Amino acid sequence: MIVKYIKLNNYRNFNEIDIELNDKLNIFIGNNAQGKTNLLESIYISSIGRTFRTNKEEDLIKFGSKKSIVDLTITKKNRIKKIRIELEKSKKKVVKINDIRLEKNNDLIGILNNVIFTPDDLKLIKGSPSERRKLLNIIISQIKPNYKYLLKNYKKVIIQRNNILRNINNKNFNREVLEIWNNYLVNIGTDILEYRKEYFKSLKKYSKEIYSNISQNNEILDIEYKSSLGIVEKLNREQTKEIFNKKIKKNLDKEIYKGITLFGPHRDDLIIKINKKECKSFGSQGQQRSAALSLKLSEIEIIKNEIGEYPILLLDDVLSELDNNRKKYLLSYINKLQTIITSTNDIDLNNIIKEKNKKIFHVKNGQIDNNKE
Ligand SMILES: Nc1ncnc2c1ncn2[C@@H]1O[C@H](COP(=O)(O)OP(=O)(O)OP(=O)(O)O)[C@@H](O)[C@H]1O
Ligand SMILES: [Mg+2]
Repeated sequence: MIVKYIKLNNYRNFNEIDIELNDKLNIFIGNNAQGKTNLLESIYISSIGRTFRTNKEEDLIKFGSKKSIVDLTITKKNRIKKIRIELEKSKKKVVKINDIRLEKNNDLIGILNNVIFTPDDLKLIKGSPSERRKLLNIIISQIKPNYKYLLKNYKKVIIQRNNILRNINNKNFNREVLEIWNNYLVNIGTDILEYRKEYFKSLKKYSKEIYSNISQNNEILDIEYKSSLGIVEKLNREQTKEIFNKKIKKNLDKEIYKGITLFGPHRDDLIIKINKKECKSFGSQGQQRSAALSLKLSEIEIIKNEIGEYPILLLDDVLSELDNNRKKYLLSYINKLQTIITSTNDIDLNNIIKEKNKKIFHVKNGQIDNNKE
């Protein structure tokens, strides 16, 4: 999968941008606050439909403008596709594929697959469980549209169920009203868990391999799926449901007292260990970065495995954070897919990237110079 052209109109700090990307390596160099991350973000939203930086879509429209357009031309399985996102103040976002408007904007997901790695991804290791659940959620949503739908419904169920739990406690609602929500919780929750179990297996396998390579076979990375239901890895769907139902029954008083749903995939976590010690608490800065990188590169392999093509890799300002061994590993790894790197550092990059098949862009105050090396 390749992004061939990017055209931006009044997007963030860009007026008009029209660039052709290289099929392999693309490097965007520029000082701080020039538009490098904005450019990556435009590719990201053409893939996922929303940004990784803000919840307010209006933020993407250039200050002082009414409308913003992102146009991407991609090739997927050797066929050309055009993705267009139109954002207008106080209007619903318009998403078009090959000039035809999508009825449901969510249908965009899966057309252009991307994996993004930023310095913020250290949160995968150091952050709360929700960061690690998000990793699995993003991977699976990109390849199984049904999963995204399940997540959306599950979220609604949790909100409703929590409301009822609180009402039972505060307003003496009858416990029977919970029954239907318990059923939803268990059914949708188990479906989510089944997907997670499947893709967790791949994540575990790839991240172990990749980490072993990064550490030159000196260290072992291992991840475990920690479910709020107990050990579920080897259970089938029916067994999982049974355990889920038992947990709810047994802990209902506690849930009513606290007013929240205490069991289900929304409470799960991944435990990441290096040489059997939990990376979050015992890993050095470098080990944590390598572990985060391994998880992200595994995401690439899982997508490739599933759809038969490599996704686009977006690397926002991560090279300067890595030591030379890790930089070298990463740069040899990215040979096989289209990569878009941003960096503030000219000299360092030119020293490391001897790769001939590349295109360098200079970003300055919302302008992009092509091919100036
Ligand atoms: N809607 C908008 N309209 C105009 N400018 C915007 C808008 N949103 C953000 N900007 C500006 O875009 C500029 C560039 O942002 P960006 O995050 O792309 O910088 P960068 O080149 O990645 O910098 P850094 O190296 O610091 O990460 C910022 O100064 C920001 O104020
Ligand atoms: Mg940036």
